[in-house]
Amino acid sequence: MDKYAVWGNPIAQSKSPQIHRHFAQQTQQNLDYVAILGDEEQFEQQLLDFFAQGAQGCNITAPFKERAFKLAQQHSERCLSAESCNTLKKLADGTLFADNTDGAGLVSDLQRLNWLKANQNILILGAGGATKGVLLPLLQAQQNILITNRTFSKAQELAAKFSQYGNIQAVELEHIPVQKFDLIINATSTGLQGKTLNINPQILQLATAAYDMQYSKESDTPFIALCKQQGVKQTCDGFGMLVGQAAHAFYLWSGVMPDVEPLLMLV
Ligand code: ATR
Repeated sequence: MDKYAVWGNPIAQSKSPQIHRHFAQQTQQNLDYVAILGDEEQFEQQLLDFFAQGAQGCNITAPFKERAFKLAQQHSERCLSAESCNTLKKLADGTLFADNTDGAGLVSDLQRLNWLKANQNILILGAGGATKGVLLPLLQAQQNILITNRTFSKAQELAAKFSQYGNIQAVELEHIPVQKFDLIINATSTGLQGKTLNINPQILQLATAAYDMQYSKESDTPFIALCKQQGVKQTCDGFGMLVGQAAHAFYLWSGVMPDVEPLLMLV
């Protein structure tokens, strides 16, 4: 049986084992997928031991995504641009190939929602790791991106780095143009603190749709709650992105693209 895992710290909350086991069942793949609590000190050695013991691949979550990126010998273009890895695959020669499927997961979910048309204007809130992970796939999907962040210099750095791939600019939080954005994406981690980014509510009121890369099963995330309060008609949290990134990782390992729809209802 092929051995896979998700590595993180903490890890008990991870839905990845449930998702991948479902994909394996659906596509009739023989796959053993577990959650492993990585050690902050020994992560690299643990991971190398895991592969030495016959594992075929794994997912990586916080706080190890950058460390996995550095450990791998080969990288996909989207992983290089993200400078962080959420999926590793052992190649035939034993070396590790790093990928980042977060952006593909987001793009797939936006397609599922029918929210992705070429040449849209997207406002992205946040300029941390989550943003960096999705910029290349969004720009490759011909989206015009405006990025804003509490710390403006980080938004500027990302815009400069990614302008080689498409239309991307940075704007200060206080100077976001009051215009109709086709989509506003929250990529900040403010939701984890029960907060939202402080932006002009008029910008939300004008938006066609709002997507939160975080998700919450019990109630709306703070960002989704705020958007609904401001009258945004189309809102969605990031659960579909989570399932989407898993589907793209599963595809990298098995060559089979699973159907995400049943999982969106099941999990
Ligand atoms: P992640 O991997 O989740 O992206 P990160 O790289 O630490 O985590 O990035 C967190 C993002 O959320 C950043 O854009 C951060 O803004 P700063 O760059 O100014 O730190 C944003 N963020 C987190 N807490 C915030 C808060 N209370 N108010 C505004 N922005 C916040």
